[in-house]
Amino acid sequence: MTLILKVDSSNPDKGAIAKAAQIIRSGGLVAFPTETVYGLGANALDGAAVKKIYEAKGRPSDNPMIVHIADKKALAQIAEVTPSAEKLAGVFWPGPLTIVLKKKKIVPKETTGGLDTVAVRMPDHLVALALISEADVPIAAPSANLSGKPSPTKAAHVIEDFNGKIDCIIDGGSSRIGLESTVLDLTSEIPTILRPGFITPEDVRDVLGSVAIHPGATGKVDEGNAKSPGMKYRHYAPKAKMILFEGEKEKVLARIAKEAKAQKSAGVLLFDDIPGISKKIKILVGGNTSNNIETQCRIYDALREFDTRGVDLILAQGIAPEGFGLAIMNRLRRAAGYSIVNV
Ligand code: TXA
Ligand code: MG
Repeated sequence: MTLILKVDSSNPDKGAIAKAAQIIRSGGLVAFPTETVYGLGANALDGAAVKKIYEAKGRPSDNPMIVHIADKKALAQIAEVTPSAEKLAGVFWPGPLTIVLKKKKIVPKETTGGLDTVAVRMPDHLVALALISEADVPIAAPSANLSGKPSPTKAAHVIEDFNGKIDCIIDGGSSRIGLESTVLDLTSEIPTILRPGFITPEDVRDVLGSVAIHPGATGKVDEGNAKSPGMKYRHYAPKAKMILFEGEKEKVLARIAKEAKAQKSAGVLLFDDIPGISKKIKILVGGNTSNNIETQCRIYDALREFDTRGVDLILAQGIAPEGFGLAIMNRLRRAAGYSIVNV
């Protein structure tokens, strides 16, 4: 039985949080909302509890977890803090930036997939912060989806994947950002973005002075080059075949319109509307590319919806891989399994 607790994300009910925190403390699994996506949490200091996350997700055991804390001071408990880490935490926490540092002994190998580094972030979400504080332990949490599927941005997605398989799901509404956090490695000589997210390379450079982007953040990497274990696994994939069209906006839209007309039942994923293909299953994910994609980004929600509606081919509009667009294109390229048409 999975306990489902509905809470108000701006004023989470103390009793509900206490129940969920008790489950974490006793070694159970709780899915909870964050500002990026929902996480599937366990006590990060309890190897046996963390092992249950891998089992529930079907996640390869060498793919480490992100450890979530509710207070910047808790970082020193689990990682070797550096001046760069302190600067970044001061600017971006709570928020969608995960930093990778040398781990301390207290963090079990299950949490870090056997690595001697640990990924840490302080989420910007009242429910997540309340849960971590009340549990009084750091919480290890990958995205709360079955391994390989699109990440969950609302409780309904978590219920779809885990109802009956985990102890508790906290429903705190939709995730504001809708894409996972930026993962930044601070153990390399130049701080390196392993996974792009809402915090952009420019944001990091403004604080640290320099930043590198791992090739896996923009394209496909072979196993040997996967600095972050997550890079080498197929990810975010809908059941449908997906083709991503990249290039100049007008040309991309014209090409998608043409391809869609030739198909019986294509799903179309767009940032800019194409009038006249309304008979197709069309999902607009971000208003207009030039305005406000951040707050409207609902890519994962769209990918799951295509699956629910039985679409077998998705035609997707690529956008410029700049700013937050870098993160969006990283997820879309991987969701498409790098099936990309340059228009
Ligand atoms: O926004 C997010 O980050 C969400 C919410 C729940 O916080 N979490 C999330 O976790 O996306 P997950 O497990 O789906 O992705 C974690 C990524 C993986 O690509 C993993 O390989 C990488 O972070 N990672 C974790 N620990 C690492 C480490 N020590 N070194 C390098 N990469 C690491
Ligand atoms: Mg994930």
